[in-house]
Amino acid sequence: AAGRWPAAPDMINHMSFNVAVLASHTGTNLQALTTAGQQPASDFNVTLVISNNSGSGALAHAREQGITGIHLSGRTHPDPEALDQTMLAALREDDVDLVVTAGYMKKIGPAVLDAYQDRIINIHPALLPRHGGPGMHGRHVHEAVLASGDTLSGATVHHVTANYDEGPVIAQQQVPVLPGDTPDTLAARVLQAEHQLLPATVQALARAHTD
Ligand code: GRF
Repeated sequence: AAGRWPAAPDMINHMSFNVAVLASHTGTNLQALTTAGQQPASDFNVTLVISNNSGSGALAHAREQGITGIHLSGRTHPDPEALDQTMLAALREDDVDLVVTAGYMKKIGPAVLDAYQDRIINIHPALLPRHGGPGMHGRHVHEAVLASGDTLSGATVHHVTANYDEGPVIAQQQVPVLPGDTPDTLAARVLQAEHQLLPATVQALARAHTD
């Protein structure tokens, strides 16, 4: 529209698609995202990392990469409402376009869920809707897949809603369950698929946003 370009300063700073990653532990999915975001053809950047564990690998990676990393938890904010509002303020201050939860073991608060509706996605190490829900995280998921006799497993990227693993599926990548698989060997194969699926999905969302 006339008079709109060149854009206002904040628009200029905000040409890239800003991604915040919430992670509780190692952060290998975070690493896959930061690596993908640094590629010349990428339409997104990981600009913020939030963890409920001050000693998490995810925050260490953020520090190494020079990305803003914030520890937010019941220790920093015993009042859940204050924690929720502080997280929302941090996301807004960073002009975050998309929130990604990857191995984030806490529920997202109502204020963030509401403000970022349809803009929060999660990666889950199974083919939802199978093997999801409360308690279905880490090793428990792969034990359940092996116990079920499924011959396929994989990774799922889905929208985050108020209930664990119930949001609409955005993308999935399948892997075979092999004879002799243990929860560890299956988890390793699924994690490799996660490291492909999550960056590809975020790039597709960023491209759709910037087009
Ligand atoms: C991943 O397998 C993810 O699907 C699950 O938790 C794990 C986190 O791994 N929710 P990392 O911290 O990204 O390495």
